[in-house]
Parts: sequence; C-alpha cells; structure tokens
Amino acid sequence: MRTKIVAGNWKMNKTYKETKALVKELNHAVKELTLDNTRVIISPTFVNLQKASKMTKKSVIEVAAQNMHQEASGAYTGEVSAQMIKGVYVDTVILGHSERREYFGESDSLLAAKVDAALKNDLEVIFCFGEVLQDRKSGNHFKVVESQIKNALFHLDSNAWSKIILAYEPVWAIGTGETASPDQAQEMHAFIRELVAERYLSDVSEEVSILYGGSVKPGNANEIFSKTDVDGGLIGGAALNVDDFTAIIKAI
Ligand code: G3P
Repeated sequence: MRTKIVAGNWKMNKTYKETKALVKELNHAVKELTLDNTRVIISPTFVNLQKASKMTKKSVIEVAAQNMHQEASGAYTGEVSAQMIKGVYVDTVILGHSERREYFGESDSLLAAKVDAALKNDLEVIFCFGEVLQDRKSGNHFKVVESQIKNALFHLDSNAWSKIILAYEPVWAIGTGETASPDQAQEMHAFIRELVAERYLSDVSEEVSILYGGSVKPGNANEIFSKTDVDGGLIGGAALNVDDFTAIIKAI
C-alpha cells in the first residue's frame, strides 16, 4: 500500500524564532491526529534545519531540506552539501522545485546530478516537476512532464526508487490560488505512474508516492487527495499556518 505524505515546503519563510514557535505548535497538533500509513514532513530553510530536526526528534514529524548542491564540498559559496544535511539528522531533500528551475536555472541534467548525490548520501528525494501555463494551454503538458522525469530520474535503477517521492506541481498553480482541478491532478498523476510502469517493474510504479502541489488548501485538499493516483500533497503557503496544515493532514 502506498504511503500517504503531506509535506510542507516553507520556502524562504520563518526566522529561527518563528520556526521554533511553529514547530512547537505542529508537534502539539500532530499528537492529536491518527496517522495511518501517513507521513508528515516539514521543510524549513537551511539555517533552521538543525533546530527543527532536534525539536521533532520525538515527534512523527520529519524534516526535509529544500535543496542541496551536487558536490560533496568545495568552492561553492552559499551552497550546502548532502553530507551537511545528513549531519543535522535530516534524511530527505526536495529537488527540482520550479522556483529553483526558474530563478536559479536548474536544468534536468543538473538535477540528475543532484539526485545522484542525494541517493549516494542516503538521502530520500522529493522530486518536483510540472508544466508552466503556456505548456498546458498548448497541450504540451504531458510532453514537458515526461521529459523532466525521464531526464532526471530514468537513469536510476529500480532499487533507487525506494528513496524517490514524486511531486507534480503545475507551475501555474503554485502560489496563485489557482489549483489544478482534482480531475486534472488525477489525469497527470495516472500518466506519470504509467510512465514509470513502462520504464520499471510494476512494483516501482505502484509503490512510488506521487504528491500534488499547487495551492492546496484546507478547502480543496480532501477532493484532491481522494483521487486514486494522488498520494498526498506538497504544500507551500498553507504549511506556514498550524491550523491550515493540520486541516490538510486530516484531509489525507
Ligand atoms: O512546493 C510546494 C509549493 O510550490 C506549493 O505552493 O503556496 O501553492 O501551496 P502553494
């Protein structure tokens, strides 16, 4: 049975003090929840990873990094390596987010190298991909998503996929309040699962969790998460508020 996952991508939000306050609230809130086969992950900024990791040590909440460099060390000012992430007891990293692709020019080949470095250091990867509005309007969205996944992930062997979580995030739905309809999400998730099934053995495609991201809110989470091939969500804005994030977890 596929694992359900609600992951909060905090992006560049929450100071150290605000992180401590929100993690404290989240730890308390999740204690009241029954989480069958469901994982809850939060992803603060690098400077707050260690604190968040320490504060959630006895909680069901897991912590993920929002990015990492593909090299182990060196003259890469401002960057953070996989080993440095592991060193603060964080075992998951988000890679390929559209904001990294757009603002920092992250290509499929660079992301393939980041995925390899993450897996080599025993990090689990939440791999993000998704089309821009122009792709969808022109009917190219399946081709774009196929290319993003194939170029960055299809060099991996089957075993590596136990450490891969897929996150479909239509760029036009991120932070816009414009959510993909549950049917649109299901259509793309089913396409993605079929793509993985064609390349790998069925247990890989059946086991991989595919999250939806893009304006998931308490009001729409239940309908989106009810779709067969939607295994949870990668949440942005709503993850920064304990009540909203808790409501979304309850919807899974
Ligand atoms: O990574 C999740 C994020 O891109 C979604 O953001 O604010 O639309 O939930 P938001």
